Amino acid sequence: MERLVIRGGLPLMGKVRVSGAKNAVLPIIASTLLVENTCQVIGVPRLADVNTIVDLISYMGADISWVEDSLTVTARNIKNCEAPYNCVSKMRASFLIMGPLLARFGQTRISLPGGCNIGTRPIDLHLKGFAAMGAEISKEGGYVNARVKDRLIGARIYLDFPSVGATENIMMAAALADGVTHIENAAEEPEIVDLANFLNAMGGKVSGAGTNVVVIEGVPSLKGARHNVIPDRVEAGTYMVAAAMTGGDIYVENVITEHLKPVIAKIEETGAKVFNGGDGIRVVGSDTIRPVNIQTLPYPGFPTDMQAQMMTLLTRAQGTSMIVETVFENRFMHTEELARMGADIWIDGRVAVIKGVPELYAAKVRATDLRGGASLILAALCAKGETEISLVHHVDRGYEKLEQKLTGLGADIRRIGAND
Ligand code: EPZ
Repeated sequence: MERLVIRGGLPLMGKVRVSGAKNAVLPIIASTLLVENTCQVIGVPRLADVNTIVDLISYMGADISWVEDSLTVTARNIKNCEAPYNCVSKMRASFLIMGPLLARFGQTRISLPGGCNIGTRPIDLHLKGFAAMGAEISKEGGYVNARVKDRLIGARIYLDFPSVGATENIMMAAALADGVTHIENAAEEPEIVDLANFLNAMGGKVSGAGTNVVVIEGVPSLKGARHNVIPDRVEAGTYMVAAAMTGGDIYVENVITEHLKPVIAKIEETGAKVFNGGDGIRVVGSDTIRPVNIQTLPYPGFPTDMQAQMMTLLTRAQGTSMIVETVFENRFMHTEELARMGADIWIDGRVAVIKGVPELYAAKVRATDLRGGASLILAALCAKGETEISLVHHVDRGYEKLEQKLTGLGADIRRIGAND
């Protein structure tokens, strides 16, 4: 099994360029199923999760081609509207093809995503939206079947939780519905706005994205479009924490500062210095790390996808910090691995109390999930000695050219075991 070996203790210095946003590009690729003509998505990161959804729509019959970071998709000859378990279980976001398929073909059969490491991750809000728009939903044998006689009908849908995926799936379904759909208590993440911009470039009529009410006026058909994906705010935040963690000085290039406000605020509270550049952010770590309290919330609150990374920074604070994880019910699995490196963390349900320690120590650890794996890499970058991180496939889901980018910042990191 592939492992990362990192020798810690070196301050990271230099410039790193952020790739396109994984969580924007996944729904955008799914939405190319809405049209039969060609779409071009530019700034697509080469990630395991991107490969999973590209393989899935290819399996359905879409023509795909890559030129560097530009992906061209023509979903003219979709021959089946079924997403098998092996695709959906590998990546929950595969479920985002349901809205487009229902809107364009009136029927779809998708494997239930099943839980994942960070929580049960139900899809009830997605299905509530489709049912409100006239779809008949049934479940059997671990699959969800959905069909609608003619066209989906615009509806007013209230989301009990501002679910990112449910907002996206319903937006895509509503784009071709008959009438107007209002999504209330919608997710406000930047990735929702990027999807709305892509749908509007296709001829859709989406307004209010980025607020808690998204309005989609259905149109009879959409056309192919070309779109540049926004930069990945979570990748950016991870490298910002790397600077704060190692006492380094990193210029994180290709960011939209607006998307990182809560992350910038919290990193500054720990004592690191943050300077906004033109299309980048410079972070200079400080000798001492101050403890801070963090509560994860839907956007524009502090992002749950940065919780593990910030926890690692706080393991070496001069004092005690608290993190409350309000979005997922099981997103502290990395704490046991961090404890093996000397961290002092106490968990009670969704609350983590992190008592700062002077040093972390190298150990053999395993990535538990994508962002948990990232938090272990950050810990290894400042731990004394050589840390070995296994199950790195989790991290490959969301960080493009990871070793290359970290090596470029002066890290001592190598991947071993590729041929095990
Ligand atoms: C998206 O997941 C992101 N993934 C996640 O990023 C991110 O952590 C999450 O949004 C929250 O910001 C992608 O965009 C591909 P949700 P998603 O639906 O859409 C509950 C990463 O590390 N819920 O907003 O699955 C759910 O159980 C990944 O890049 C329901 O109850 O998240 C959870 O507690 C991890 N019913 C909460 O909402 C539903 O029908 C947030 O889930 C749907 C969700």
